[in-house]
Amino acid sequence: MTTEMSSTEDIIGRSEIDDFEAILSVVGSEEADGRHVVHSEYDSIFTWDYEKGSRPKLNKLYEKAKGAQWNGETDLPWEIEVDQEKLVREDAEANGGFGAGFDLTGTPVEHWGDKEWVQFGVESQNWTLSQFLHGEQGALICTAKIVESVPWIDAKYYASTQVMDEARHVEVFGKYLDQKLSGHYPVNAHLRMLLDDIIADSRWDLTYLGMQIMVEGLALAAFGFMHQMTRDPLLKQLLRYVMADEARHVAFGVLSLQEYYEGLNAAELRERQEFAFEAAVRMRDRFLQQEVWDRMGVDPKAIVPVVQQAPERGEFQALLFSKIVPNCKKLGLLDAADGWLRTKFTELGVIEFESWVDTSEEYDALASVPPKDRVLS
Ligand SMILES: [Fe+2]
Ligand SMILES: [Fe+2]
Repeated sequence: MTTEMSSTEDIIGRSEIDDFEAILSVVGSEEADGRHVVHSEYDSIFTWDYEKGSRPKLNKLYEKAKGAQWNGETDLPWEIEVDQEKLVREDAEANGGFGAGFDLTGTPVEHWGDKEWVQFGVESQNWTLSQFLHGEQGALICTAKIVESVPWIDAKYYASTQVMDEARHVEVFGKYLDQKLSGHYPVNAHLRMLLDDIIADSRWDLTYLGMQIMVEGLALAAFGFMHQMTRDPLLKQLLRYVMADEARHVAFGVLSLQEYYEGLNAAELRERQEFAFEAAVRMRDRFLQQEVWDRMGVDPKAIVPVVQQAPERGEFQALLFSKIVPNCKKLGLLDAADGWLRTKFTELGVIEFESWVDTSEEYDALASVPPKDRVLS
């Protein structure tokens, strides 16, 4: 855990944010016994104040969550067949062909033909959905922890609905990977570091900040991007359902932390800012797809810096922060402690989103349609 007035190196383990050599040197692995143990010490809190609705906004969210449950087995069109290679080809055609927009001269993929690019596209999708799956399990664990550690009854009630939501998300992403795609990837090392940090922290608000604001805020943007891009109607509907839940989860984080952060002093807020910055960098690092290059037999260090130079790449990565930045602003985290986080988000190139709509306001629009009335779009 970081302490007050840390340097960038203290917080993220390197002094340059874009040091690819350092980022790509962190390589993930999976334990042979199939389990990853994270130790955590925290207080489980009983409250004797059972008055339901003493936090009206959280109560409203809880009531909505009860009516927004859906069944991953029966509410999605699992009968739809998915031809992964065909989808990859169609996608490439719509975007000007494989490798369009990159100068790949002198790189290890210079002589790649259709076959390699299709395989890369397939692997890339397996990887992306695998990381979603692992992130969802992280959310499941974090939310169960929030039920125990948050002191307010309305938040315990709401968080318990989110536990069920996250179980369903793990279930549907797992099923989609197993039945429609063609292979799993282990959790990315940067994502795992972040999840471990969130889970190991003893302070309940850090679980919220790390999961509900940072991880889920990014997931909401990433799911939205994929929902827009995918040509698979099953994945489209799956993401639409998951996104409606995720918007509620992020709103839960914003509504809960707003009240708590009003009572913190500048030094305490600075610790939260540093945590938010660390999370932002870890999530950026995780999007480099280093494991996919590796599986394709290409040294990530020889290709990632080239791919990262493409302008669309930067735009995509910035867009992933379009939910996080306005939500941090709403919590007062951007400008607390002399605007430390504003400076950091400016360095990351994502400050432009600060005035976009925050998720506590956006939520109603996104999830106003009850699950049974949602249609393919
Ligand atoms: Fe989720
Ligand atoms: Fe979630």
